[in-house]
This record gives sequence, structure tokens and C-alpha cells, in this order.
Amino acid sequence: MNSSKDILIIGGGIIGLSLAVELKLRGASVAVLTADSKQPTARAAAGMLAPQAERIPPSPMLDLCLQSRALYAAWVERLEDITGLKTGYWRSGILAPVCQNEPQEKPLLSNLNYQWLDRDAVHQHQFGLGQEVMGGWWYPDDAQVDNRALFRTLQVASKELKIDIIQGSAEEIIRQENRVCRVETTAGKLQADRYILAAGAWSEKLLNIPVYPIKGQMLSVCVPENSGVMQPLQTVLFGTGIYIVPRQDGRIIIGATSENVDFTPGNTPAGMQSLLAGAIKLYPELQNYPILEFWWGFRPATPDELPIMGASAWENLTLAAGHYRNGILLAPVTAKLLADLICNQKSDPLLAAFNYSRFGSSELT
Ligand code: GLY
Repeated sequence: MNSSKDILIIGGGIIGLSLAVELKLRGASVAVLTADSKQPTARAAAGMLAPQAERIPPSPMLDLCLQSRALYAAWVERLEDITGLKTGYWRSGILAPVCQNEPQEKPLLSNLNYQWLDRDAVHQHQFGLGQEVMGGWWYPDDAQVDNRALFRTLQVASKELKIDIIQGSAEEIIRQENRVCRVETTAGKLQADRYILAAGAWSEKLLNIPVYPIKGQMLSVCVPENSGVMQPLQTVLFGTGIYIVPRQDGRIIIGATSENVDFTPGNTPAGMQSLLAGAIKLYPELQNYPILEFWWGFRPATPDELPIMGASAWENLTLAAGHYRNGILLAPVTAKLLADLICNQKSDPLLAAFNYSRFGSSELT
């Protein structure tokens, strides 16, 4: 049996590491079980902090996302202070261009900050947009973070804070009566007082919760050195089925397909073609930019597209899974609300909307 900790987090992705850092800073002794072989969704994402551009309807989910977006600046600053690294957090705003023959659907909440830009205004706002763009919604409070830099920062913060990182995969969560008593893993048997399941799209392999993978293919290009500017795109472009996320260092991330193909790996010509066609339509200059990389990841989806967070049927197992399209955005609020729950027994009323029991079974096995 390996060394015992207060808390064992199953999953070293963005949610698992964010929780580990928060709990450790609140005084808990924490171990994280992480499987290198599973490409973390945190590396695959684009890093948009986009509750408005994603058009999340007024709901507890929107409240959760807005709370997390509001926490972001202070959260990344704390991580940057611990590590001396940069996360690439950028209040770039997000522009949702509307092309000819697309509906100009109004945002769903009038009390948030947004603006309709007509054809002239949108082309002035971002130079170089495609001629088919006839207007756009501007969301100045949506933002972005360099998710790979953030993930690295969380990994380094975990090291700095002496969080025990255990390399291996969970094979089975062993339960007795109403408690988890240990986790069988490729690194041996692990025991703790409390367990958190944060295994993203792989969570369903360990517990009967409805989380399944939705694959997203992505690619990146870079602004050519001879173009005279580091980054001509000064905002995220969030189109229909396509988004373009500029980084301040000259990279441009293009995403993402949305495919229900289980854990089928790899990039496909069809996936790349649809992304490239969509991106070039919105920002034609991209067709001349050198391609840097293709990749894919697996979003942890749930039937109602909401995360599963909070208590489970086992009194010492907490759930933090199913963040679907919003894992990067929801990391700070997930860490805060679940640390409040675990360390202070304080259950934020928002958590009720994300309890596993909404799927109709109080005895998930
Ligand atoms: N958050 C964007 C995506 O999942 O593609």
C-alpha cells in the first residue's frame, strides 16, 4: 500500500491539478494520480474563456461560468506568483462574426456587456476579416488563456507546493458499504481519507456516471516572420462551428470539430478540411500562414452538457467531471467550490444543479 494522504485526486488534468493546488494551499495533504498516456484535454483545448460567445443560456451553468471568468485574473496571478511562469491570460475579448445567410441571433442576456457591430464597424474592429462577414457580436468581457502554458504552470505549482504526483492509471475504485476504501492503480493500491474523481472523459471507466468523449480536432498556424507584425489578430474570432484564437507570441489556434466517435484517435482529412475552410472564410490571410501542428482531444461530455460536481453516493468521494466544452473556463470555480465543500463543509447553492443525482439514480455503481 502506498503512502496515505488526506486527499487522493484521480486525474491530473486541468480540473485535478487546479483542485490539488487549491486544497494544498488550504492546508490539506494531497496526492494526484495522473496517467501520462492519456493526452490531457487541457493541452488539447484552445483556452477560450467564453461564456457569452458559447451562448450559454441563463441558468446555473451560466452563473457558474460567469463566476469562474470573474475569478480568472486573480487565480492566474496567484499561480504565476507561485511559479514565476506566465499563463498567457489575455483579456482579448471575443468577436462572433456573422456571415451572409447566417442568422443574427441576439445574445440571450441583456444585462451582460456586448455590442452588435455592423459591416463597417466589424471590419474596422478587426482588419482582414472575410468579405462574407456582414456584422458581429462583440463580447469584451470574454477572454482567453494559453491553456498549455496554464497547464505547465499548474504542474510546476504542484511541484513547488510539494503535492505528491503519482504516475499511473486508476483501474478500480474499491468501495465498502458507503465509503471508498482504496483505489487499485497501475502504481499499486492507493489509500486516502477522501477521494476526488477528476478523470475527464475517462471517468465513466471507473464509476457509472454518464461521461463520454466528444472528440475535437484542432490545428495551429503562425504569423510569418516577414509579415511585419507579431500578431495581426487582436481578438478571438468565434464563428459557426469554427473558432480562431490568436496568441500574443504569433501562434493562431484553430478549432474544433465535435465528433461522437468514442476514443478514436487521430486527425482526419475531413476534419482538417472543415476547420481550414471555416477559418479561411472568416480570416482569409490565414491561407498563407505556415501550419505548425495538428492535434485532437476528447471533451468530457454529459447527456445535458453540464458538469457533474460535488457529493457522490459514497460519503468520502467527491465528483469533478464532465466539464465538456468549458473545462479551462471552469477550473477556478470548480477548485474553489469543491475546496469549500471538502475543507469547510460549505456547499454553495449553485452545486445543487450539478449533482450526479439529476440523472435519476441515487446509487451509481
Ligand atoms: N471550448 C471550445 C471547445 O470545446 O471546442
